[in-house]
Order: sequence, then C-alpha cells, then structure tokens
Amino acid sequence: MDRIKEAVEVAIDAALAAGKIQTERADQIGKVRYKGHASDPVTEIDLLCEQEIIRRIRESFPDHDILAEESAETYFGKGADSKWVIDPLDGTLNYSHGYPCYCVSIAVEYKGEIVVGVIYNPCLDELFVAEKGKGATMNSQPISVSQTEQLQSSLLVTGFAPQLEESLNKNLEYFGKFMHACQAVRRPGSAAMDLCYTAMGRFEGFWEMKLKPWDVAAGTLIMQEAGGKVTKFDGSPVSIYDQEILATNGLVHQQMVDVFLSNGNH
Ligand code: 2AM
Ligand code: CA
Repeated sequence: MDRIKEAVEVAIDAALAAGKIQTERADQIGKVRYKGHASDPVTEIDLLCEQEIIRRIRESFPDHDILAEESAETYFGKGADSKWVIDPLDGTLNYSHGYPCYCVSIAVEYKGEIVVGVIYNPCLDELFVAEKGKGATMNSQPISVSQTEQLQSSLLVTGFAPQLEESLNKNLEYFGKFMHACQAVRRPGSAAMDLCYTAMGRFEGFWEMKLKPWDVAAGTLIMQEAGGKVTKFDGSPVSIYDQEILATNGLVHQQMVDVFLSNGNH
C-alpha cells in the first residue's frame, strides 16, 4: 500500500482524538439508544467519535472506502483497494455505565488484507499500533504474546455479543468447558481490548462468536504482529467477516481447539 506510514499516523491521530472526546464527555454521554437489543446501546459519543475519525480520514485519503460501525447500514464500498474498518467506541455498554474498559479501534485493509491496526484505550492511555510485517507496540514499546504453554495455567477471555439465544447458549457451554480447562475466564466487554491484552500477554487466549468486522479488524493484526495465532474455533483460517474468532499465544492454540471440538464437559 502506498503512503502506509501516513495511514498509520492518521489512524493514531484519529484514535487519540476520539479517545479525548470519550474522556471529556464521560460524565455527559447524552441519550442512549438501543440497536434492537437492550445490551446493544449506542450513545451520542459513539456518533461524535465516528464523525471525527471519518473527517480526518477523508481529509488525507478521500478515495478510500470507510466501513464504520455507526454508518455501516448505509455503507456502499466504492471498490477502492484501501478500506478503513472502524469501531469508534468498542465497549459502549461499559462506557455508558462508567466502567473503564472501552477503546477506539481503527484498521486499514488493503486488497483484502489488514495492513494497519490501531487501538486506543483512553482510560489507561494505552495506545496499541501494528503495521503488517513491522511488529506491534503499546505506547511505542514492542509487545509479544505470553510464553505460557499449558491451558491449565492460562487466563482466558471471552465476550457475549448481544445476539440470538442460540449463540448465547452455545457460548455459555464453551464458557463452562473452559472454566474447567484453564486457570480462569474473564469477560470484560470489549473485544478489541481483549485482543490487545492477549497480544501483550495479559491473557493467553480469547474467543468470541458473532462479532462484527470492526470489533476485530485492528486487534487481529495486533495479535498476529505480536506473534499470536488467530483462527476459527477448529483452527482453520479466519477472516474478520467470519462469525467466530479464536486468538491465542499460539502455544495453547491446539489445546483450545481440542476443547471446542470435545463433547461433554472437559
Ligand atoms: P461494541 O461495544 O462496539 O458494540 C462484547 O464482548 C463485544 O461485543 C464488544 O466488542 C461489543 O462492541 C460487541 N458487540 C456489541 N453489540 C454487538 C452486536 N450487535 N453484534 C456484534 N458485536 C457486538
Ligand atoms: Ca462500537
């Protein structure tokens, strides 16, 4: 991709600007709307952040496609080689409760491959950046996945996207299985943060179902560039448009695949 360094800079600046809006407006989030489901809220801040990010991208890259969560329903790609994939606020439910676990997620896909991933958590002032083939950093320091080899010694993380009963029940079943197979399971409520924390070794593995491309685009590249492995639950190749994601330090990957494929309690 041409001008990739500039794209990284624009992504970082846009993420920091959106994070600033989130911090400044944390006490006055305005009206909360629900996208069909009570656990799928959208605030005025989601929309403000998205507008700010898109304005900055358009200024530098007017010809690129932009797929962003809050305008996704009216998205018509122009078929450009470069496509920005944006979640202006990942973890909106947390944000609306004042629970400090949320972030901005911005990725660039070039000819179908993610080449830039930037995630910014304004609560902790943690900025994660990855460029294809160049590694991943947090606040400019290189990060890498954990070296833990055993699932029994692993801290895992998952989430429950507000979707059909069927997938909720299925994920509760997986949750139960992993509770028995690892040290502990967490479910903080921001898929993008879960991926970053797995990339930097705080968690050994992350899985989730029914996510949207903007929830996982930047985090997937950050994971891969930090040395992690990202697949479907059965270990086969995954894209950000798929319905499930398994991301691990690589070392416990097959052990997690075995749990998914096992029958009954593990
Ligand atoms: P959001 O806060 O940007 O909506 C919870 O583990 C994850 O599910 C969060 O990353 C959250 O992102 C995402 N999520 C919330 N509603 C969703 C929906 N309707 N479809 C897919 N993912 C969703
Ligand atoms: Ca969001």
